[in-house]
Amino acid sequence: MATLPSLPTSSLPIESQNGKKGEEQNPTPLQEYDDLISTLPQHEGWLPLRLRKYQGSWFPEHNLPGVIAVQKRFKARPTDLFVLSFPKSGTTWLKALAFAIITRTQHPLAHHPLHSLNPHQCVLTMDRLFALGQASTIEAMPSPRILGSHMPFSLLRDSIEGSGCRIVYVCRDVKDVLVSWWHFHDKMRPAEMDRVPFAKALEMFCQGICHSGPIWSHVLEYWEESQRRPEKVLFLKYEEMMEEPTSHAKRLAEFMGCPFSLEEEKEGLVEEILKLCSFENLRNLEVNRSDKRDAVHLAKFETLFRKGKVGDWTNHMSPEMARKLDEMTQQKFKGSGLTV
Ligand code: A3P
Repeated sequence: MATLPSLPTSSLPIESQNGKKGEEQNPTPLQEYDDLISTLPQHEGWLPLRLRKYQGSWFPEHNLPGVIAVQKRFKARPTDLFVLSFPKSGTTWLKALAFAIITRTQHPLAHHPLHSLNPHQCVLTMDRLFALGQASTIEAMPSPRILGSHMPFSLLRDSIEGSGCRIVYVCRDVKDVLVSWWHFHDKMRPAEMDRVPFAKALEMFCQGICHSGPIWSHVLEYWEESQRRPEKVLFLKYEEMMEEPTSHAKRLAEFMGCPFSLEEEKEGLVEEILKLCSFENLRNLEVNRSDKRDAVHLAKFETLFRKGKVGDWTNHMSPEMARKLDEMTQQKFKGSGLTV
Protein backbone atom coordinates (compact mmCIF):
# COMPACT_ATOMS: atom_id res chain seq x y z
CA MET A 1 0.00 0.00 0.00
CA ALA A 2 1.34 3.41 -0.92
CA THR A 3 2.42 5.47 2.03
CA LEU A 4 0.98 8.91 2.45
CA PRO A 5 3.71 11.50 2.42
CA SER A 6 4.41 12.88 5.88
CA LEU A 7 2.34 15.86 6.74
CA PRO A 8 4.28 19.06 7.09
CA THR A 9 4.90 20.07 10.70
CA SER A 10 2.05 22.47 10.47
CA SER A 11 -0.50 20.07 9.07
CA LEU A 12 -3.30 21.96 10.74
CA PRO A 13 -5.80 23.74 8.58
CA ILE A 14 -4.57 27.21 7.80
CA GLU A 15 -6.90 29.21 9.98
CA SER A 16 -6.04 27.17 13.03
CA GLN A 17 -2.37 27.90 12.48
CA ASN A 18 -3.10 31.57 12.08
CA GLY A 19 -5.27 31.57 15.14
CA LYS A 20 -8.15 32.95 13.10
CA LYS A 21 -10.47 30.15 14.23
CA GLY A 22 -12.04 29.51 10.86
CA GLU A 23 -12.69 33.08 9.86
CA GLU A 24 -11.22 34.95 6.97
CA GLN A 25 -11.09 38.70 7.34
CA ASN A 26 -14.35 39.27 5.50
CA PRO A 27 -16.06 35.98 4.80
CA THR A 28 -18.75 36.38 2.18
CA PRO A 29 -21.35 33.64 2.22
CA LEU A 30 -21.79 32.05 -1.15
CA GLN A 31 -24.85 33.39 -3.00
CA GLU A 32 -24.28 31.88 -6.42
CA TYR A 33 -26.87 29.14 -5.99
CA ASP A 34 -29.56 31.10 -4.13
CA ASP A 35 -31.93 31.15 -7.12
CA LEU A 36 -31.64 27.41 -7.63
CA ILE A 37 -32.08 26.73 -3.92
CA SER A 38 -35.20 28.88 -3.69
CA THR A 39 -36.94 26.51 -6.14
CA LEU A 40 -36.20 23.33 -4.15
CA PRO A 41 -38.73 21.50 -1.96
CA GLN A 42 -38.58 22.80 1.58
CA HIS A 43 -39.54 21.62 5.04
CA GLU A 44 -39.34 23.08 8.49
CA GLY A 45 -36.48 21.35 10.30
CA TRP A 46 -36.22 20.29 13.94
CA LEU A 47 -34.85 23.71 14.77
CA PRO A 48 -36.12 27.00 13.41
CA LEU A 49 -34.07 26.17 10.37
CA ARG A 50 -35.35 25.36 6.94
CA LEU A 51 -34.38 22.17 5.18
CA ARG A 52 -34.25 21.88 1.40
CA LYS A 53 -34.29 18.72 -0.66
CA TYR A 54 -31.52 18.55 -3.21
CA GLN A 55 -31.01 15.52 -5.47
CA GLY A 56 -32.74 13.16 -3.06
CA SER A 57 -31.32 14.39 0.28
CA TRP A 58 -32.32 17.06 2.80
CA PHE A 59 -29.89 19.78 3.87
CA PRO A 60 -30.08 22.82 6.10
CA GLU A 61 -30.75 25.68 3.70
CA HIS A 62 -27.77 27.69 4.91
CA ASN A 63 -25.41 24.83 4.14
CA LEU A 64 -26.76 23.89 0.73
CA PRO A 65 -24.73 26.50 -1.21
CA GLY A 66 -21.61 24.78 0.12
CA VAL A 67 -22.85 21.33 -0.80
CA ILE A 68 -23.68 22.41 -4.35
CA ALA A 69 -20.38 24.27 -4.69
CA VAL A 70 -18.40 21.21 -3.59
CA GLN A 71 -20.37 19.06 -6.01
CA LYS A 72 -19.77 21.42 -8.92
CA ARG A 73 -16.36 22.92 -8.23
CA PHE A 74 -14.28 20.82 -5.88
CA LYS A 75 -11.68 18.43 -7.26
CA ALA A 76 -9.95 15.99 -4.94
CA ARG A 77 -6.20 15.48 -4.96
CA PRO A 78 -4.77 11.94 -5.11
CA THR A 79 -3.41 12.28 -1.58
CA ASP A 80 -6.63 13.61 -0.02
CA LEU A 81 -8.25 11.72 2.81
CA PHE A 82 -11.96 12.28 3.46
CA VAL A 83 -13.59 11.58 6.81
CA LEU A 84 -17.26 11.12 5.98
CA SER A 85 -20.38 10.17 7.88
CA PHE A 86 -24.05 10.71 8.45
CA PRO A 87 -24.33 13.32 11.24
CA LYS A 88 -24.29 11.92 14.80
CA SER A 89 -22.60 8.68 13.77
CA GLY A 90 -19.23 9.30 15.41
CA THR A 91 -17.73 11.92 13.10
CA THR A 92 -15.95 13.81 15.87
CA TRP A 93 -14.28 10.65 17.14
CA LEU A 94 -13.22 9.50 13.68
CA LYS A 95 -11.83 12.93 12.82
CA ALA A 96 -9.80 12.92 16.02
CA LEU A 97 -8.47 9.42 15.41
CA ALA A 98 -7.60 9.95 11.76
CA PHE A 99 -5.90 13.26 12.52
CA ALA A 100 -3.97 11.97 15.54
CA ILE A 101 -2.78 8.86 13.68
CA ILE A 102 -1.69 10.69 10.56
CA THR A 103 0.11 13.50 12.40
CA ARG A 104 1.71 11.35 15.10
CA THR A 105 5.26 11.94 13.96
CA GLN A 106 4.81 15.69 13.55
CA HIS A 107 2.93 16.27 16.78
CA PRO A 108 4.15 14.34 19.82
CA LEU A 109 1.06 13.32 21.76
CA ALA A 110 1.97 15.28 24.87
CA HIS A 111 1.74 18.51 22.84
CA HIS A 112 -0.79 17.44 20.29
CA PRO A 113 -3.15 20.08 18.80
CA LEU A 114 -6.09 17.95 19.91
CA HIS A 115 -5.40 19.10 23.48
CA SER A 116 -6.44 22.61 22.57
CA LEU A 117 -8.50 22.29 19.38
CA ASN A 118 -11.78 20.54 18.72
CA PRO A 119 -11.41 17.70 16.17
CA HIS A 120 -13.58 19.70 13.76
CA GLN A 121 -10.97 22.45 13.82
CA CYS A 122 -8.29 19.94 12.91
CA VAL A 123 -10.29 18.31 10.11
CA LEU A 124 -12.40 20.98 8.49
CA THR A 125 -15.81 20.35 6.96
CA MET A 126 -15.32 21.33 3.36
CA ASP A 127 -18.92 22.14 2.39
CA ARG A 128 -19.18 24.53 5.35
CA LEU A 129 -16.08 26.33 4.15
CA PHE A 130 -17.50 26.57 0.64
CA ALA A 131 -20.81 27.84 2.08
CA LEU A 132 -18.94 30.56 3.94
CA GLY A 133 -17.07 31.62 0.83
CA GLN A 134 -13.81 30.22 2.17
CA ALA A 135 -13.00 27.68 -0.52
CA SER A 136 -9.56 29.25 -0.81
CA THR A 137 -8.71 27.85 2.63
CA ILE A 138 -9.07 24.35 1.24
CA GLU A 139 -7.03 25.10 -1.87
CA ALA A 140 -4.26 26.57 0.26
CA MET A 141 -3.97 23.52 2.48
CA PRO A 142 -0.78 21.53 1.87
CA SER A 143 -1.09 17.93 0.72
CA PRO A 144 -2.03 15.52 2.01
CA ARG A 145 -5.23 17.15 3.17
CA ILE A 146 -7.73 15.62 5.56
CA LEU A 147 -11.22 16.95 5.00
CA GLY A 148 -14.62 16.12 6.41
CA SER A 149 -18.19 16.22 5.16
CA HIS A 150 -21.63 14.73 5.66
CA MET A 151 -22.34 14.86 1.93
CA PRO A 152 -23.84 11.71 0.39
CA PHE A 153 -21.53 9.81 -1.93
CA SER A 154 -23.73 10.48 -4.95
CA LEU A 155 -23.09 14.23 -4.55
CA LEU A 156 -19.35 13.79 -4.04
CA ARG A 157 -18.74 11.29 -6.80
CA ASP A 158 -17.82 13.75 -9.55
CA SER A 159 -15.38 15.55 -7.27
CA ILE A 160 -13.43 12.48 -6.33
CA GLU A 161 -13.80 10.08 -9.26
CA GLY A 162 -10.48 9.01 -10.69
CA SER A 163 -8.50 11.05 -8.17
CA GLY A 164 -7.19 8.10 -6.18
CA CYS A 165 -8.15 9.78 -2.89
CA ARG A 166 -9.21 7.76 0.14
CA ILE A 167 -12.39 7.80 2.18
CA VAL A 168 -13.09 6.63 5.71
CA TYR A 169 -16.75 6.41 6.59
CA VAL A 170 -18.36 5.65 9.92
CA CYS A 171 -21.90 4.40 10.38
CA ARG A 172 -23.85 3.75 13.57
CA ASP A 173 -26.97 1.97 14.74
CA VAL A 174 -29.77 4.04 13.23
CA LYS A 175 -31.63 4.10 16.56
CA ASP A 176 -28.66 5.62 18.39
CA VAL A 177 -28.16 8.14 15.58
CA LEU A 178 -31.73 9.33 16.01
CA VAL A 179 -31.40 9.59 19.80
CA SER A 180 -28.14 11.50 19.43
CA TRP A 181 -29.76 13.85 16.89
CA TRP A 182 -32.71 14.49 19.12
CA HIS A 183 -30.52 15.46 22.07
CA PHE A 184 -28.29 17.57 19.87
CA HIS A 185 -31.25 19.56 18.60
CA ASP A 186 -32.55 19.91 22.10
CA LYS A 187 -29.29 21.54 23.16
CA MET A 188 -29.27 23.76 20.10
CA ARG A 189 -32.88 24.90 20.31
CA PRO A 190 -33.56 28.49 21.29
CA ALA A 191 -35.09 28.91 24.76
CA GLU A 192 -38.36 30.17 23.30
CA MET A 193 -38.82 27.08 21.15
CA ASP A 194 -40.58 23.99 22.49
CA ARG A 195 -38.78 20.69 22.59
CA VAL A 196 -39.59 18.51 19.57
CA PRO A 197 -41.45 15.44 20.88
CA PHE A 198 -39.39 12.32 20.31
CA ALA A 199 -42.25 10.67 18.39
CA LYS A 200 -42.31 13.59 15.94
CA ALA A 201 -38.55 13.42 15.52
CA LEU A 202 -38.86 9.71 14.78
CA GLU A 203 -41.52 10.34 12.19
CA MET A 204 -39.47 12.98 10.37
CA PHE A 205 -36.34 10.84 10.61
CA CYS A 206 -38.18 7.90 9.02
CA GLN A 207 -39.27 10.21 6.20
CA GLY A 208 -35.64 11.21 5.74
CA ILE A 209 -36.36 14.81 6.74
CA CYS A 210 -33.21 15.66 8.66
CA HIS A 211 -29.71 16.96 7.86
CA SER A 212 -28.31 14.74 5.07
CA GLY A 213 -31.29 12.38 5.33
CA PRO A 214 -32.47 9.85 4.58
CA ILE A 215 -29.87 7.95 6.55
CA TRP A 216 -30.37 4.65 4.76
CA SER A 217 -29.34 5.76 1.26
CA HIS A 218 -26.43 7.71 2.78
CA VAL A 219 -25.04 4.63 4.52
CA LEU A 220 -25.80 2.30 1.63
CA GLU A 221 -24.03 4.42 -0.97
CA TYR A 222 -20.79 4.41 1.02
CA TRP A 223 -21.18 0.73 1.87
CA GLU A 224 -21.54 -0.16 -1.79
CA GLU A 225 -18.56 1.98 -2.74
CA SER A 226 -16.48 0.30 -0.02
CA GLN A 227 -17.41 -3.06 -1.53
CA ARG A 228 -16.43 -1.89 -5.00
CA ARG A 229 -13.17 -0.22 -3.96
CA PRO A 230 -12.07 -1.53 -0.55
CA GLU A 231 -8.55 -0.20 -1.03
CA LYS A 232 -9.93 3.34 -1.29
CA VAL A 233 -13.04 3.33 0.89
CA LEU A 234 -12.89 2.06 4.47
CA PHE A 235 -16.32 1.48 6.01
CA LEU A 236 -16.36 1.48 9.81
CA LYS A 237 -19.05 0.87 12.39
CA TYR A 238 -19.20 2.92 15.60
CA GLU A 239 -20.22 -0.09 17.70
CA GLU A 240 -17.33 -2.21 16.43
CA MET A 241 -14.90 0.63 17.04
CA MET A 242 -16.15 0.91 20.60
CA GLU A 243 -15.80 -2.82 21.12
CA GLU A 244 -12.33 -3.19 19.63
CA PRO A 245 -10.71 0.22 19.48
CA THR A 246 -7.12 -1.04 19.20
CA SER A 247 -7.64 -3.19 16.15
CA HIS A 248 -9.66 -0.42 14.51
CA ALA A 249 -6.99 2.20 15.13
CA LYS A 250 -4.45 -0.13 13.53
CA ARG A 251 -6.73 -0.84 10.62
CA LEU A 252 -7.32 2.86 10.13
CA ALA A 253 -3.58 3.57 10.18
CA GLU A 254 -2.92 0.84 7.63
CA PHE A 255 -5.68 2.04 5.38
CA MET A 256 -4.38 5.60 5.54
CA GLY A 257 -0.97 4.37 4.46
CA CYS A 258 0.80 4.99 7.77
CA PRO A 259 0.69 1.68 9.67
CA PHE A 260 2.01 1.53 13.21
CA SER A 261 5.49 0.03 13.38
CA LEU A 262 6.17 -2.82 15.79
CA GLU A 263 8.21 -0.41 17.84
CA GLU A 264 5.33 2.06 18.06
CA GLU A 265 3.03 -0.75 19.10
CA LYS A 266 5.47 -1.92 21.76
CA GLU A 267 5.78 1.61 23.09
CA GLY A 268 2.00 1.69 23.52
CA LEU A 269 1.45 4.46 20.99
CA VAL A 270 -1.81 2.98 19.73
CA GLU A 271 -3.27 3.01 23.23
CA GLU A 272 -2.00 6.54 23.82
CA ILE A 273 -3.71 7.77 20.68
CA LEU A 274 -6.92 6.03 21.68
CA LYS A 275 -6.71 7.69 25.07
CA LEU A 276 -6.15 11.10 23.55
CA CYS A 277 -9.18 10.63 21.27
CA SER A 278 -11.40 8.96 23.85
CA PHE A 279 -14.77 10.41 24.69
CA GLU A 280 -13.78 11.04 28.30
CA ASN A 281 -10.58 12.82 27.41
CA LEU A 282 -11.98 14.98 24.64
CA ARG A 283 -15.12 15.89 26.54
CA ASN A 284 -13.16 17.14 29.52
CA LEU A 285 -10.79 19.35 27.60
CA GLU A 286 -11.20 23.06 28.14
CA VAL A 287 -11.86 23.69 24.44
CA ASN A 288 -14.73 21.19 24.42
CA ARG A 289 -16.28 22.24 27.72
CA SER A 290 -16.57 25.91 27.04
CA ASP A 291 -19.13 27.79 25.02
CA LYS A 292 -16.63 27.80 22.18
CA ARG A 293 -17.63 27.33 18.60
CA ASP A 294 -16.03 28.53 15.44
CA ALA A 295 -17.32 30.29 12.39
CA VAL A 296 -17.34 27.05 10.44
CA HIS A 297 -19.37 24.99 12.90
CA LEU A 298 -22.48 26.54 14.26
CA ALA A 299 -22.72 24.13 17.17
CA LYS A 300 -20.94 24.77 20.44
CA PHE A 301 -18.21 22.20 20.83
CA GLU A 302 -19.67 20.88 24.07
CA THR A 303 -22.81 19.76 22.21
CA LEU A 304 -20.71 17.22 20.31
CA PHE A 305 -20.02 15.19 23.46
CA ARG A 306 -23.03 13.71 25.22
CA LYS A 307 -22.84 10.08 26.39
CA GLY A 308 -20.71 8.33 23.81
CA LYS A 309 -22.36 4.96 24.52
CA VAL A 310 -23.78 2.15 22.44
CA GLY A 311 -27.49 1.41 22.89
CA ASP A 312 -28.75 4.58 24.57
CA TRP A 313 -31.84 4.20 22.38
CA THR A 314 -33.24 1.81 24.99
CA ASN A 315 -33.73 4.82 27.27
CA HIS A 316 -35.76 6.73 24.69
CA MET A 317 -37.74 4.36 22.51
CA SER A 318 -40.65 2.07 23.11
CA PRO A 319 -40.18 -1.49 21.79
CA GLU A 320 -42.65 -0.55 19.06
CA MET A 321 -40.59 2.45 17.93
CA ALA A 322 -37.40 0.38 17.93
CA ARG A 323 -39.09 -2.36 15.93
CA LYS A 324 -40.29 0.14 13.35
CA LEU A 325 -36.80 1.53 12.83
CA ASP A 326 -35.16 -1.89 12.81
CA GLU A 327 -37.63 -3.16 10.24
CA MET A 328 -37.07 -0.15 8.03
CA THR A 329 -33.31 -0.61 8.28
CA GLN A 330 -33.50 -4.31 7.46
CA GLN A 331 -35.74 -3.64 4.53
CA LYS A 332 -33.56 -0.82 3.14
CA PHE A 333 -30.33 -2.80 3.50
CA LYS A 334 -31.80 -6.06 2.25
CA GLY A 335 -29.57 -7.79 -0.25
CA SER A 336 -26.68 -5.38 0.28
CA GLY A 337 -24.74 -7.60 2.69
CA LEU A 338 -24.69 -4.75 5.22
CA THR A 339 -25.83 -5.47 8.75
CA VAL A 340 -25.93 -2.84 11.46
P1 A3P B 1 -24.29 10.45 21.76
O1 A3P B 1 -25.20 11.62 21.51
O2 A3P B 1 -25.00 9.15 21.61
O3 A3P B 1 -23.56 10.54 23.04
P2 A3P B 1 -20.94 13.18 15.61
O4 A3P B 1 -19.54 13.38 16.04
O5 A3P B 1 -21.08 12.47 14.31
O6 A3P B 1 -21.72 14.45 15.71
O7 A3P B 1 -21.58 12.15 16.66
C1 A3P B 1 -21.85 12.55 17.97
C2 A3P B 1 -21.95 11.32 18.83
O8 A3P B 1 -20.65 10.76 19.01
C3 A3P B 1 -22.48 11.64 20.21
O9 A3P B 1 -23.18 10.46 20.62
C4 A3P B 1 -21.19 11.85 20.98
O10 A3P B 1 -21.34 11.74 22.38
C5 A3P B 1 -20.33 10.74 20.40
N1 A3P B 1 -18.89 11.00 20.54
C6 A3P B 1 -18.24 12.17 20.46
N2 A3P B 1 -16.93 12.00 20.66
C7 A3P B 1 -16.74 10.69 20.88
C8 A3P B 1 -15.57 9.89 21.16
N3 A3P B 1 -14.39 10.44 21.27
N4 A3P B 1 -15.74 8.56 21.32
C9 A3P B 1 -16.97 8.01 21.22
N5 A3P B 1 -18.10 8.70 20.97
C10 A3P B 1 -17.99 10.03 20.79
